[in-house]
Amino acid sequence: MPAQGEFGKRLSAAADLVRPGAVFADIGTDHASLPIYLASVGKIKRAYACDVAEKPVELARKNVEASGYSDIIEVRLTDGFCGLRGLSITDAAVCGMGGELIASLLSAEDAVFLRTDAVRLILQPMSRAAYLRRYLAREGFEIENEVIVRDMGRQYELICATYTGNTYSLTPLEEQLGRANIARGGEELAVLCRRRLLHLKNLLGGTNGKEREETLALIAELERTSVKEQR
Ligand SMILES: C[S@@+](CC[C@H](N)C(=O)[O-])C[C@H]1O[C@@H](n2cnc3c(N)ncnc32)[C@H](O)[C@@H]1O
Repeated sequence: MPAQGEFGKRLSAAADLVRPGAVFADIGTDHASLPIYLASVGKIKRAYACDVAEKPVELARKNVEASGYSDIIEVRLTDGFCGLRGLSITDAAVCGMGGELIASLLSAEDAVFLRTDAVRLILQPMSRAAYLRRYLAREGFEIENEVIVRDMGRQYELICATYTGNTYSLTPLEEQLGRANIARGGEELAVLCRRRLLHLKNLLGGTNGKEREETLALIAELERTSVKEQR
């Protein structure tokens, strides 16, 4: 049985957000580490470990077989959520991909079945988290919780969301940092602020007019938040 630390704090944090008894889909499963861990701790009823590339699927199949959980975990070669409709998925993770790619997978026709309050999404964007939050708000996915974790010295953001159909808007600061993270505050939020500041300051040179004004206003807000969280 893999110990929690073996696949790191990032995937451990994703596992924590999966509900007990879930029928779980892991999109972009790679080694199938997440479903194998969840099966090993008895947290899931069934899992679909999905990947679009043949190599990871091959590896996932070997790992699942070696884990002894082939009765619980089915490995599928599939693009995004394709073919998962009708399988009573309750919890679905998309971890370790760019925020834009995650949004595009959620937008696909095959992913329409996720638009119910019975499904929990666990998303871990490697980039463009602000883009993903804006997408979720615009499409009526309520962000229920967010977590920032540090794994091997690197920071990761996890977003837990469920479809309600009620669209809403986030402030530019909320898009950058996440409402729940802002409400929680603390050292990890201060670090996230500094990362975002660095990124936006790098972008500033290529902006002008309204875009420049908005970027400057966001930089000022992030600087205020950063100072507050360091106190
Ligand atoms: C960086 S790995 C992340 C693996 C694991 N989810 C994690 O967080 O450690 C990204 C995986 O997503 C898969 N992937 C990329 N696009 C995909 C798509 N459209 N549908 C399913 N899997 C995809 C890749 O083949 C790769 O195995």
